[in-house]
Amino acid sequence: ETLDAAGLAILPGAIDVHVHFRDPGYDHKEDWESGTVAAAFGGVTTVFDMPNTVPTVDNPEALAQKHAIAASKAHVDYGLYAVLGESSLDHVETLADAGIIGFKLYMGNTFGRIASPSTGAMLELFEKVAPTGKRVSLHAETNSVMERRETALKAANRNAPLDHLASRPAVVAIEAVERAATLAEWTGARIHILHISSADELRPLADAKARGVDVTGETGPHYLMLGTDDYARFKGVIRVNPPVREASNQDPLWRALQSGLIDMVATDHAPHTPEEKQRENIWDVDCGFPGVETQMPLMLTAVAEGKLGFQDYVRVSSLAPARAFGLYPQKGVIAPGSDADFALVDLGAEWTLDDAQLHSRSRISPFDGRQVKGQVRHTIVRGRFIVRDGALVPDSKGTGRSVHAIQHMPEPRPLNRDKTLDAVTGKGEVL
Ligand code: DOR
Ligand code: ZN
Ligand code: ZN
Repeated sequence: ETLDAAGLAILPGAIDVHVHFRDPGYDHKEDWESGTVAAAFGGVTTVFDMPNTVPTVDNPEALAQKHAIAASKAHVDYGLYAVLGESSLDHVETLADAGIIGFKLYMGNTFGRIASPSTGAMLELFEKVAPTGKRVSLHAETNSVMERRETALKAANRNAPLDHLASRPAVVAIEAVERAATLAEWTGARIHILHISSADELRPLADAKARGVDVTGETGPHYLMLGTDDYARFKGVIRVNPPVREASNQDPLWRALQSGLIDMVATDHAPHTPEEKQRENIWDVDCGFPGVETQMPLMLTAVAEGKLGFQDYVRVSSLAPARAFGLYPQKGVIAPGSDADFALVDLGAEWTLDDAQLHSRSRISPFDGRQVKGQVRHTIVRGRFIVRDGALVPDSKGTGRSVHAIQHMPEPRPLNRDKTLDAVTGKGEVL
């Protein structure tokens, strides 16, 4: 097959390590077909799906069920997460061997209400996960602080003003990042900090990296491009966990992405129906919105505006996620021997994001109406067109594959305690 790619930029397909495709259990919000079609239209060739579906993916049977559904419907490649929690304590090794891309640990409550392990349980879970080499992606918010604050807010004002949605203090994330990093350092577990929303989380992340903790981090377009000023326009639609914060957080987040302190961009694609997003009482609105389809045009617009280098975008959207989760060099790079996963993009095309045009089942987003520059024309997964000339290729359903088989995480590293002590005491002796 030949293709006239004149005028188009060729990028390695994006790897979105954080999507919620809702299937099984909530397929009125999204399913593996609508979710992966949305991904393909967004130039995303690999997605990692979160385990807060029904049944919760915290045991081998639920994992096998989701694997079968994804295999029958996916248009792009995918990895599946399993919950790391007390409910999966006895399944850690089995799940690791059964083809997951990584574990997900909920330090705070969010959609699906998966119980957060205590610090003691987290230590035990990290000890079990470390020898498997699998990375643990963390929803890093301290449950107790978060619940107290929001319960009080709700009690005080059921019809709270919209900016209460952003009122969760960043300290719930700072504390959680610090605690997770400490436990990772102690056990040798690899971790990934999901949805970094504030400048405040950057210090504990930098501290952990400086100590040699194997930690990566992500932020999303909504934290880079939206602020509390956008609540008035988008109301409950913008409600997400963690919340979109003051716009003053955006520049530090961009700088962290540019420098590599934040390793990657991921969307937390979290579809809900328009009814679920437009409830009168803001506390009843389901959290999150679709993002997998709009990440690339939004981020390339920011590249055109000089907020991030073009090569840096390729790094944060594809190379870094592939490396962090053991898929490099088969994915995350255009090179001989790699999977041919590409997005071909018209970098000069100016257009307007429109909810009605989204391929997600959830056609409601706080990026509706935004002017962007950069449009995906073709998406190719393992050498096969999935989107061609802006249209879905027939018979691409079910061609997506689980990527766990190509995962090769490097050997787990020895525990780092002595090195830390060296750094602190200058000689590595116990104080
Ligand atoms: O806004 C969110 N939505 N944050 C999460 O952590 C979960 C997600 C969902 O599944 O809806
Ligand atoms: Zn989360
Ligand atoms: Zn999420």
